[in-house]
Amino acid sequence: MKYLIANWKANKNLTEAEDWIDIVIEQQFQSDRIKIVLCPPAALIYPLKQKLRDEKNIVLGSQDVSAFASGSYTGEVTAKSLEGLADYAIIGHSERRKYFNETDEIVQKKIKNAIKYNIEPILCIRNEKDFIPADVKMIAYEPVYAIGTGSNEPVEKIIEMKKKLDLRPDNVFIYGGSVDKNNVVAYLKKPDIDGLLIGIASLDSMSFFDIVNQA
Ligand code: PGA
Repeated sequence: MKYLIANWKANKNLTEAEDWIDIVIEQQFQSDRIKIVLCPPAALIYPLKQKLRDEKNIVLGSQDVSAFASGSYTGEVTAKSLEGLADYAIIGHSERRKYFNETDEIVQKKIKNAIKYNIEPILCIRNEKDFIPADVKMIAYEPVYAIGTGSNEPVEKIIEMKKKLDLRPDNVFIYGGSVDKNNVVAYLKKPDIDGLLIGIASLDSMSFFDIVNQA
């Protein structure tokens, strides 16, 4: 079973999101081989959860959770508020480290909050230097040069990185960075890679479905 994690980042409104889901569901994919984790902007998680109520093959993830558990932190999206709505949360994405100054220390707080509220963290790391706390199961290796650039990292280099990380047998190892319908098969063929985190190529429903179809 391979994970296909769609990271929409700060894109789409509710209508666009619902259209995307309608089209992807209509295509009927082989659900025993893949798990789709859809990570829309936070405000869309609740309505999409309603829409996906009878859909077993697509689950929802958040793109982040707050480092704060609760309290007077205006605008923060806490793990507590996401419990029961998001099954997964992307944490420590390089865009958050870059634009929102997230440090390993902040990332660790976010991971703790997610786990406390039954949300599986998907920890993004840029290289072997980023800290991986012991309680993290899912790791997404995303080299910065490959994100949104069309320069996807070759499979061999990803596997080299995995070896350097010295993961546990129960870790789930995901790759992300310019994955699209033309390069997806090379990644999915490798038992070393448990799934893919897909940004730009997940935005258009048909381009995402081209990926799903090859999984
Ligand atoms: P990309 O983004 O597929 O557009 O490179 C991946 C990510 O940032 O998670």
